[in-house]
Amino acid sequence: MKPFKVPVVPASTITPEAIYQQRRTVLKAMGFTGLSALLGQAFANVAVAADGPLLYRPASAQAFTTSEALTPFEHVSGYNNFYELGMDKSDPSANAAQLQTTPWSVAIEGEVGKPGVFTLEDILKPHALEERIYRLRCVEAWSMVIPWIGFPLKDLLARFEPTAKAKFVAFESVFDPSHLIGQKNNTSGIHWPYVEGLRIDEAVHPLTILAVGLYGKILPNQNGAPLRLVVPWKYGFKSIKSIVKIRLQETQPQTTWNLLAPREYGFYANVNPAVDHPRWSQQSERRLPASLLRPNRIPTQMFNGYQEQVASLYNNMDLRVNF
Ligand code: MTE
Repeated sequence: MKPFKVPVVPASTITPEAIYQQRRTVLKAMGFTGLSALLGQAFANVAVAADGPLLYRPASAQAFTTSEALTPFEHVSGYNNFYELGMDKSDPSANAAQLQTTPWSVAIEGEVGKPGVFTLEDILKPHALEERIYRLRCVEAWSMVIPWIGFPLKDLLARFEPTAKAKFVAFESVFDPSHLIGQKNNTSGIHWPYVEGLRIDEAVHPLTILAVGLYGKILPNQNGAPLRLVVPWKYGFKSIKSIVKIRLQETQPQTTWNLLAPREYGFYANVNPAVDHPRWSQQSERRLPASLLRPNRIPTQMFNGYQEQVASLYNNMDLRVNF
């Protein structure tokens, strides 16, 4: 006789709606009622809970979700690029404890009316959290579907009153070489801290979010806790993790991978099956989880499938030149 096994529903078959409803049921059982009480609690959770549930609303528009199968949590949190925590895909989860996320503050600088250094709590307080189920496409030609929880970057920037000179947004990641192995023994050659940037119209696009969680929980450290960027129509390296500084400026910011290999990585980095990376064809991608026997190769979509939403940002631009 076979031993009885508790049936497990694979995460990939759970619909976003089901996750959301499940979360609501749990919260109800915990005694939370009323939306404002829920949201208030959400930010307390972000600030204090190590592994607590987040309170969020479902995606507010069709473009903010997808019916594609979600990539299981163990792949989303176990196959990562986070060079501060090591260069192999399994290093970031193995070394996750090296990232110290409390206390955390974010500096808002440059072309803004209200600059300053703010605690994570102050950064998050006014924002209602929303689920966004996005495709994440790495330039290494693998991809995932991730249920993020976050809020539009646009709403955060508006609070600090960008001036008319704010044409670009520069982001900077944590710098802590005493704890982070990738910064201590710098084998990657990256000039730390990791930096990224967006044009202002890209930064305020409704698809661009700051994420604080995934799969209903606060972000695992290896995914860029406590606050990371997610720009779903661009290659994953634009989605900078563990942000400590946001600077609005008149000039185009420098970006980590462009500094390291300018012929391989451009500033725009829009997902584009017609423009190959020198080392990886971009025509198709491996949708994770994949294996040698089940490569799960699918054609890559222009702008990672967000063409309808973002193509107009690049009218009259040669995307081969501005790769
Ligand atoms: N941000 C920082 N600070 N350091 C990094 O090494 N890697 C980038 C991006 N953000 C990276 C980073 C790359 S190459 C990718 S593909 C995504 O994070 C991966 O995000 P994930 O590990 O959450 O899937």
